Amino acid sequence: MSGLLAGKSALITGGGGGIGRATALAFAREGARVAVADAMEDAARQTVALVNEAGGQAMSLSGDVTDPAAVESMVKGVVSAYGRLDVAFNNAGIAGYQVEASGKRTHEWPDASVDRMLAVNLKGVWLCMKHEIVQMLAQGGGVIVNTGSIAGLVGLYTSSAYVAAKHGVLGFTKTAALEYAKDNIRVNAVCPGYIETRMTEDTMRRRGDELIGRIPVGRMGQPQDIAEMVLFLSCDRSSYVTGACYNVDGGYMAI
Ligand SMILES: NC(=O)c1ccc[n+]([C@@H]2O[C@H](COP(=O)([O-])OP(=O)(O)OC[C@H]3O[C@@H](n4cnc5c(N)ncnc54)[C@H](O)[C@@H]3O)[C@@H](O)[C@H]2O)c1
Repeated sequence: MSGLLAGKSALITGGGGGIGRATALAFAREGARVAVADAMEDAARQTVALVNEAGGQAMSLSGDVTDPAAVESMVKGVVSAYGRLDVAFNNAGIAGYQVEASGKRTHEWPDASVDRMLAVNLKGVWLCMKHEIVQMLAQGGGVIVNTGSIAGLVGLYTSSAYVAAKHGVLGFTKTAALEYAKDNIRVNAVCPGYIETRMTEDTMRRRGDELIGRIPVGRMGQPQDIAEMVLFLSCDRSSYVTGACYNVDGGYMAI
């Protein structure tokens, strides 16, 4: 198979959803064997079916990124099926409305909502990196891409712990990039703006017109817009890029 990721094996967390699914399809199109992991196993299987329909090669894995044992067996599962782990896209995440914090300011977030948000969107990324890096060190290198956000770069109203988690993801990304540069492991992040997925449905319902008014290109992004950047960061064309955070946001951060 030819393509930018020909012969590579890739793991995608949150691969049952918008950005993860689009990235699974892009990776498979470019010749990668893709392991699609998600807490929602049916959603992961649907992504695999779409990859197979498009002529690619994929497998599904269950994997709650907050569960250390599940994350370890997720990484082991990819290696036992594909022999190695060349590319890891740590993308699983949740929004405030999924932890009962929709529309709440910082002091109004319930304790349990903050805990869950940090467990999935921040510690979950670290747990995945931890096991991926062990494998990549053992095999002599690899590439990690984490899903950050424009919320990792600036504050956003009523997104308190989400914003904190995404700032933290960029911290993990930059530090790991330094620590493993000499081990042939590159670590980067993509920072999406407002992308049309399940995650943004609640926000767009509440204040979509206002938000779109603030995006210079005047529309939301599509999951494929992010997938193409993740593909670039995952393939050899970006071999001199590490520790970087790329905005894909229709110009939002340029204002
Ligand atoms: N949509 C946007 O506008 C936007 C903007 C910036 C960043 N992001 C980030 O992009 C990533 C993907 O989000 P999306 O927009 O595709 O949303 P989505 O809801 O379509 O996809 C997220 C996926 O993550 C999975 N997931 C949630 N919790 C999990 C867990 N504990 N373990 C494993 N999987 C879990 C979900 O089941 C879902 O399939 C997230 O990290 C999100 O924070 C999204």
